[in-house]
Amino acid sequence: MRLDKFLSQYTDHSRSLVQQAIKSGRVLVDGVTAKKGDQKIAGHEIITLDGTHIEAFQTRYLMLHKPLGYVCANSDSEHPVVVDLIRLPRWQELQIVGRLDLDTTGLVLLTDDGQWNHRITSPRSECPKTYRVTTANPITSETAALFAAGVQLHGEKMPTRPAQLELISSHEARLQIHEGKYHQVKRMFAAAGNLVVGLHRESIGDIQLDPALAPGEYRALTADEIKSVVP
Ligand code: URA
Repeated sequence: MRLDKFLSQYTDHSRSLVQQAIKSGRVLVDGVTAKKGDQKIAGHEIITLDGTHIEAFQTRYLMLHKPLGYVCANSDSEHPVVVDLIRLPRWQELQIVGRLDLDTTGLVLLTDDGQWNHRITSPRSECPKTYRVTTANPITSETAALFAAGVQLHGEKMPTRPAQLELISSHEARLQIHEGKYHQVKRMFAAAGNLVVGLHRESIGDIQLDPALAPGEYRALTADEIKSVVP
């Protein structure tokens, strides 16, 4: 395997951060400063990044049904965190693939494969995410048109990418977005003069929240689900 691939797989560094680390001499292979990301490694070497030994492990890919009131973080001083729900060894090493708000429920992916995580969460990724939204006020047809055209959110340079809104009832809709700006769904509805009172993520790309999972439960992804996230 290439050194840069190894490091982005077994750390939370993206490929470009790994390249920077190699260029600045922060990566050692068997005590020798690595010079190039394409250096081949066989698997028995001692590889360190900033002095920390990076070890290969069996990568894990999980889907969790996030309950209300949990924070998408590895620790929090006020609220329970989603990794508290995971009863696996090395649970602290799991990365949360994108965040949901405290009051949002639904699909959360966790992995220790940094590259796979990056494919979904990189700002350039257009990986669709689907949410079921409940609002305080009726959802108008102008809202769908506004979201399809792109919404200029306060403090953002660019309008949102075109998003698809499917009305389910007067106060409920399914929204598919192709990026993941901070509080994006709530801010989009606020820009349309509405207020989100319930938010549930149903899918990320082709990965659907398994209806057999109750809030708080999780399962390993299938090989097809893992493969569905393409570079
Ligand atoms: N958009 C939001 O506003 N909140 C979430 O939790 C996810 C998307």
